[in-house]
Amino acid sequence: MPRQFFVGGNFKMNPASREAKRTLIKTLNDAALDPSVGAQITFRFLTVYLTKDVKVAAQNCYVKLSGAFTGEISPSQLADAGIPYVVLGHSERRTLFHESSELVAQKTRVALDNGLSVILCVGETLSEREAEKTKEVVEKQLEPVTQQLKEADWQKIVIAYEPVWAIGTGKVASSAQAQQAHADIRAFLVKAVSPAVAESTRIIYGGSVTASNCKELATQKDVDGFLVGGASLKPEFVDIINATK
Ligand code: G3P
Repeated sequence: MPRQFFVGGNFKMNPASREAKRTLIKTLNDAALDPSVGAQITFRFLTVYLTKDVKVAAQNCYVKLSGAFTGEISPSQLADAGIPYVVLGHSERRTLFHESSELVAQKTRVALDNGLSVILCVGETLSEREAEKTKEVVEKQLEPVTQQLKEADWQKIVIAYEPVWAIGTGKVASSAQAQQAHADIRAFLVKAVSPAVAESTRIIYGGSVTASNCKELATQKDVDGFLVGGASLKPEFVDIINATK
């Protein structure tokens, strides 16, 4: 069964103004988006916008559902607000906020238990790639998640391979690099979970995706979509959503 192409726009803590957000949403609502593509956009807080065909996702959630955790967001409150997806394990959460792969795995479990689907981010640093440790690093990031999930849970997971050295740098991975990393992740899932999960799980690429490089990346057999940062704030995000058209 073909995997549905999936494109996420990670707005991070952008744009700054309400007006800019409104313009962005209007661009998306006015665009002729490919209906066969699952598209998500993420806002920092529970900002519910009148998005027509693009769903709103959260950029993170906490590992507990309620309590004295100032600044955190509860997975059950996200689900109650009708938010279908949450991004977990983004490299900025791992590096700037010191989130371990074990914590990301626990958050994934709690998110799934509360009705959310998860965009699970993995990826290596430049020094790890140069040391030819990409496969080893990504598998170490995925391993704790495989311990937390039952086979059926994986239908709620989209894996985002985001090489840290490509995020926000303009240095997009080559199609060959992306394809190799995605194929390695799929091969890992065959062993760690099952051939069926490996085949059905969408693995999307993130890291300096633009309208000019997305079509070539989308031709790679194990690239099932994108998680887009900077370009998701621009009208070209429509072209990226429509990359397979
Ligand atoms: O989550 C996607 C993001 O990290 C990629 O950022 O700006 O390189 O597309 P960017």
